[in-house]
Amino acid sequence: MNTDFRPLIVGNWKMNGLAAALDQAKALASALADEAVAARVGLCPPATLLAQAAWALKGSAVLLGGQDCHTEPSGAFTGDVSAEMLADAGASLVILGHSERRAGHGETDALVAHKVAAALRAGLEPIVCVGETLAERDAGREIEVVTGQVTASLPDALAGRDFAVAYEPVWAIGTGRTPTLEQIGAVHGAIRQALTQRFGHQGVGVPILYGGSVKPSNAQEILGLDEVGGALVGGASLKAEDFLGIIRAG
Ligand code: PGA
Repeated sequence: MNTDFRPLIVGNWKMNGLAAALDQAKALASALADEAVAARVGLCPPATLLAQAAWALKGSAVLLGGQDCHTEPSGAFTGDVSAEMLADAGASLVILGHSERRAGHGETDALVAHKVAAALRAGLEPIVCVGETLAERDAGREIEVVTGQVTASLPDALAGRDFAVAYEPVWAIGTGRTPTLEQIGAVHGAIRQALTQRFGHQGVGVPILYGGSVKPSNAQEILGLDEVGGALVGGASLKAEDFLGIIRAG
């Protein structure tokens, strides 16, 4: 169970990065080798770079993660990657239910819950993403939408296991727009309540990451909020220097 209250700061490279991008992973690992930071740090490169990134990060404390996984361990699923394959390539984390997969690949809460169970089967720590669209926010439905996603995307199998939830308002991802600190605090508070109702005392320690246009200039105030237990970082994780600026704020 998660007894580690250090913030968890995870970079999500999405579908970015050819082999040359490994230089950024190496730069990250070597900077963190010389420097003590409060946060646990993770990096989720595209699946094609996982094995090479595992070499680049070898000996460093940076955790490696996948960006998605299939529900099954193996089989006739062309183009898919299983949780076991991610673990085999060196991953210990996996991002699941990212809004780009929910919107672009029709992933439902039920499918995300199955994927979470698959991640646990392979011994991975899942980071389960939730977040409202702009239309849902404008309709004042963000708490209802997000807590509904939390309830339906988290399987009971998470009881006693390490996992994190990432709140990523869809309208803040890659847009440079971030919610106000009050808005972030309100949603994170509601997620915490949903987690403790569901998982009891365990729910108190589950890290709730914020994601959506996190950058070095806003990381400190966001990470300083009660109930923000880390960050999921897209664009700003592609350059080691920017990502380090966020990690140092943790
Ligand atoms: P962004 O992406 O930091 O580029 O907004 C965040 C995410 O999608 O995880």
